[in-house]
Amino acid sequence: MENAELESILASHGHRPSELLATLQDIQGNENWLPRESLAHVAAGLNVPLSRVYGMATFFSSFSLKPRGKHVCTICMGTACHVRGAQRLVEHVEREHGIGPGETTADLRLTLETVNCVGACAMGPLAIIDGEYHGQLSTQTLGRLLKKLKG
Ligand code: FES
Repeated sequence: MENAELESILASHGHRPSELLATLQDIQGNENWLPRESLAHVAAGLNVPLSRVYGMATFFSSFSLKPRGKHVCTICMGTACHVRGAQRLVEHVEREHGIGPGETTADLRLTLETVNCVGACAMGPLAIIDGEYHGQLSTQTLGRLLKKLKG
C-alpha cells in the first residue's frame, strides 16, 4: 500500500490512537491483509507502540498478517462435506491454481482456505467464494466459478 493511501486512512481517523481498530479495518479492507510495513507506519502515525498494533492485529481473526488474494475460496472440510467429496474440491484447486489450504497465488488473485463445518451440511460439499455459498459442488462447477472471478 502506498504511503499516501496510508496517510489518507490515518487522516480519515484523525490520527487518533483510539481509532486504531478502525484504521486497521480500513487497511485490511483495502489490501485484504495487513502488511508489516503498513503496521509500522500506523504505529508511527498514531504514536503508539508497534507491539500494541500487533496485539490488535493478531487478536481479531478477521485480520490477516499473511497476503490474501483478491478472491477467497473457503472449502468446508467438515464430516458431512468430507464424505461427499470435499477433498476432491481441494485437490482441484491445488491442481488448477497451484495452492493448498492457507496459501495464496503469487499474483494475489486467489486464496484457498478450509473450514470445519459452517452449519449448512445439507448443501455439502460446499465452498464459500467471496462470501457467497455454493452447495452440491462438483469439481467442474467449482472450476467454472473460480474461472468466472473477475480480476
Ligand atoms: S460439514 Fe460442511 S457445512 Fe457442515
